[in-house]
This record gives sequence, C-alpha cells and structure tokens, in this order.
Amino acid sequence: MPVRVNPSILSADFVNMQSELDRIATADLVHVDVMDNHFVPNLTFGPQMVERIQAVSPVPLDVHLMIDDPDRWAPGYAELGAYSVTFHAEAAADAVALARRLRQIGARAGVALKPGTPVEPYLELLAEFDQVLVMTVEPGFGGQKFMHEVMPKLTALREAVSRSGLDVWLQVDGGVTEETIAIASEAGADTFVAGSSVYNAGDPAEQIKALRAAALASQHRH
Ligand code: DX5
Ligand code: ZN
Repeated sequence: MPVRVNPSILSADFVNMQSELDRIATADLVHVDVMDNHFVPNLTFGPQMVERIQAVSPVPLDVHLMIDDPDRWAPGYAELGAYSVTFHAEAAADAVALARRLRQIGARAGVALKPGTPVEPYLELLAEFDQVLVMTVEPGFGGQKFMHEVMPKLTALREAVSRSGLDVWLQVDGGVTEETIAIASEAGADTFVAGSSVYNAGDPAEQIKALRAAALASQHRH
C-alpha cells in the first residue's frame, strides 16, 4: 500500500511562501489549512491566497477547510484547481451532497472528523468520499500532541475500506512525527499530514523521506 506525506504550510513562513513550497517539492501533496476564526479559533487564508499557492506550488494541493458553512465555500476551492478538498463533517449541512459537488467539479472529496466525532456514520458512506481525515489533535493550531485515543477510528475505517474494495485514502493530521507516524500507519492510515515536524527540520526533504520510511516500515497489514 502506498504512503503519502503531505507537509502542512501552517508551519511555513507565510511571507516567503514560494520558497517554503519549494522546500517541500519532494512531498506527495501540500496540505493547505484554511481557517476562518469561527469553526476554529485561528485564522489563516482564503481563496485568493490558495489560488496563488496553487499557481506556484511544485506539488498539488490538499486543502483542509476548517471553516463554517463549507456547503457554500468548499466548491470554490475545487474550482481554483485544488487536487483534494476536505471539509469538516461537523460543519457541513449535507456532507454527501457537498462531496458529490466537489467530485463533479473535478476534485477529490474528503471529509474530516474532529477527535470527538464518531466515525460510524461514515463507514456506510465510504463510496461518497475519496478521503477520510481523522484529526489527531483538536483542529486550529500546529505543534500539538498526537492523540493516541483516536486510533480505533482508523482501525474501523481501514477494515471498512478493505471490505469495500474502494480506494479511499485515510489521512491523519496533527502531532505527526517519526514516532507517531508509525502508530497511525499501523492503525491503518496511509496519508500523513506533518507541519512542525517537516518545517522545523533542518532539511525538510530528508524529514519527508524519514517519515515515509517510518510509515512504510509499520504499515498496516491486511
Ligand atoms: C491543525 C492543522 C494541521 C497542522 C498540523 O489544525 O489542521 O494541519 O498544521 O500541524 P502539526 O503537524 O505541527 O501538528
Ligand atoms: Zn490540517
């Protein structure tokens, strides 16, 4: 099973975004955290900035929307060319309808679950999504501690994905390091967001390689 490492530019230097993107050119995708100061108590950037990132990034965009009313705003990110658009289940009025719309525009559709949000309803809906993002911290900030207690959600998702035969990526986001990536990989994740561990490393390319190797070494067997 392939593994993907998507560095989060939340930990990048925002005023040097182009060179910060070039530092992670060997990544699979670049994780772009959009926050609106309502769904989460932090504010990053909106569609204009994401459009410029899309224009200069050497790798495709994995947009993570931590915003209210994604039913209204998420399609715009698909329209500007994001490879993947993930919205929060807790914020969406109609997650299935929104995912269908994102796919229709041409993006991969992802649904994200906060640590306290149960996974069960989504096990039945896997065909509607290309990615399920299991948050391993409370969304809002980089540099937090990985929450081991959400691993059973990944195990349940991996079992359901295997059973279904669908190609749904299982992503984790928050507190991913060389140690915790092994735990998440073993639990069933195949797509890993890493902000501070990549950008705080002396050599981000080396860190991406090390994270991939650690994830592969402890990959879930099924
Ligand atoms: C947090 C964001 C994450 C964040 C992860 O709400 O969704 O993508 O950048 O940062 P680290 O890897 O430092 O926990
Ligand atoms: Zn994120």
